[in-house]
Amino acid sequence: MKTILMTAALCGLALSTPAQAADNDIDALKAEAAGIVKTFAQELQGELLTAMKAAGPASAISVCNEKAPAIAAAHEAASGWSVARSSHKLRNTDNAPDAYTAAVIADFVAREEAGEVAKSLSQAEIVEEDGQRVFRFVKAIPTGQPCLNCHGGDDVKPEVVAKLAELYPDDAARGFTVDRMRGVFTLSKVLSE
Ligand code: HEC
Repeated sequence: MKTILMTAALCGLALSTPAQAADNDIDALKAEAAGIVKTFAQELQGELLTAMKAAGPASAISVCNEKAPAIAAAHEAASGWSVARSSHKLRNTDNAPDAYTAAVIADFVAREEAGEVAKSLSQAEIVEEDGQRVFRFVKAIPTGQPCLNCHGGDDVKPEVVAKLAELYPDDAARGFTVDRMRGVFTLSKVLSE
């Protein structure tokens, strides 16, 4: 269980959800989504450091790569929320954005270029998708110092570069610097009528 929790945090999946918000209350939905994101972000920072300290970044990569999909499936079945990470510069193409998220990411990239800081970028709204009302929440993820071990530029260690090349031959998630938008959390919840 400890391994699963650690892996979940490392790979960006929240396992616990707060009390469910009423379906029409956008402020409550926003708070619920922000809570999921916050739990995740805090755990990620803490667990990443622990995992890397214990075995180094190259080993932390394989834990993430092998266990993430199963945990994602279990989490989504249990919570009623879809929780994912995506990016304009993808490492794993399985994390490619849907059309909605892609449009928001493009907007965030433009706003960041225009001078807004990544940590302030988020969007929440209710949209219609396939005849259903869906709450969507997208929040930018700023790059932190520990992230540079695996998403930085020339300073990424050779053994990490080698492992990434093996697992992600099309890796585009390199060359980031602190505070720049690394990607987004994208959450959605289908609302009852
Ligand atoms: C130990 C290496 C490592 C560290 C450190 C790391 N990541 Fe990653 N990151 C990965 C790997 C591996 C993937 C691909 C995971 C997968 O296969 O879904 C990934 C994927 C992502 C994604 C999903 C989008 C994509 O490109 O596939 C985001 C967003 C992300 N990382 C953000 C961060 C942030 C923010 C930090 C710092 C808090 C961070 N990462 C630290 C290895 C790392």
